[in-house]
Amino acid sequence: MATHYLKERTLHPVYELAADLMIDFRSLSRPGDVSHRLPGASTKIQPLYGSTTLPAYHRDMEQALTWLREAQSICVLTGAGVSAESGIPTFRGEGGLWRRFRAEDLATPEAFATDPKISWEWYDWRRQVIAKAQPNPGHLALVELERRVPTFTLVTQNVDGLHHRAGSRNVIPVHGDIWTVRCLECAYSHKDERAPLPEIPPRCPAAAVLLRPGVVWFGESLPVEPWRAAEAAAGKCDLLLVAGTSAVVMPVGGLVGKARHAGARVIEINADQTRISNTVDLSLRGPFGDILPQLLSAVPIQHAQEIKD
Ligand SMILES: NC(=O)c1ccc[n+]([C@@H]2O[C@H](COP(=O)([O-])OP(=O)(O)OC[C@H]3O[C@@H](n4cnc5c(N)ncnc54)[C@H](O)[C@@H]3O)[C@@H](O)[C@H]2O)c1
Ligand SMILES: [Zn+2]
Repeated sequence: MATHYLKERTLHPVYELAADLMIDFRSLSRPGDVSHRLPGASTKIQPLYGSTTLPAYHRDMEQALTWLREAQSICVLTGAGVSAESGIPTFRGEGGLWRRFRAEDLATPEAFATDPKISWEWYDWRRQVIAKAQPNPGHLALVELERRVPTFTLVTQNVDGLHHRAGSRNVIPVHGDIWTVRCLECAYSHKDERAPLPEIPPRCPAAAVLLRPGVVWFGESLPVEPWRAAEAAAGKCDLLLVAGTSAVVMPVGGLVGKARHAGARVIEINADQTRISNTVDLSLRGPFGDILPQLLSAVPIQHAQEIKD
């Protein structure tokens, strides 16, 4: 296994220190809700700029549209926030709590080894939430963006498969796939989209050995080939869009610095301030599902090409 995996998946130290102090956008809990509402609030959050800074938002948006128009090679890095408007909770904040557990404490090899049943109950619950969710307008805008730019790569930390379901083609899911189950001992690996699962914890058909979800846990290494492809895409793009991620999970958060050092422009799209907001070229504050369709409008439709398989 060690030869196929590279670099441990860890939280950024800044996050570990400040975890409980971070203000987080509360994720949505109703599957299929694409109305961009903050739970508990009745106001629409578009855009998240006060009236005094609205001109700044428009100026930033104009700049972003210009860069989108100029870009020949775009890499997009997405995180849990892009699925929040589809009703899938993020890890941080209220929506990240399940029973009395924090997501970060459940998504580890230790948690699974200690109590595989609890761990699988959590994954089974997440799979049921995801099964009911639909791609939102932001996911769909990325599908169309892929058709319109010559080179496009979508690197996602999400395990929900919504980019694929929306129709994106060149997707690199660096943290794996929640619908894959694989054996702890043999090579058995299988797509199982039943939600709920009939038996918890599920077992390998070859023996009575436990199956695990096909995701990368905290403390584990990333699969080598997807990670290399993600690094290559970030290192050679001329525009990196970083959407809906707190960018605290490493090594993926490091792709932002890699792209910048290679000379790419970096635009962040996030509902909230993050640790990278002050280091990127532009930070657009607002919901992914509203901002991505606006950005798409900058890229001329006549460049649209048949998607290459
Ligand atoms: N849908 C999923 O597959 C899913 C869900 C939860 C967690 N995860 C996993 O958890 C890890 C968490 O790291 P992460 O950085 O992806 O997520 P995170 O939970 O750390 O951060 C979510 C980010 O999204 C932002 N956000 C929330 N709603 C938004 C919206 N509507 N529009 C724009 N931004 C919004 C928040 O401000 C925050 O910065 C990832 O590695 C991922 O594998 C995946
Ligand atoms: Zn097996």
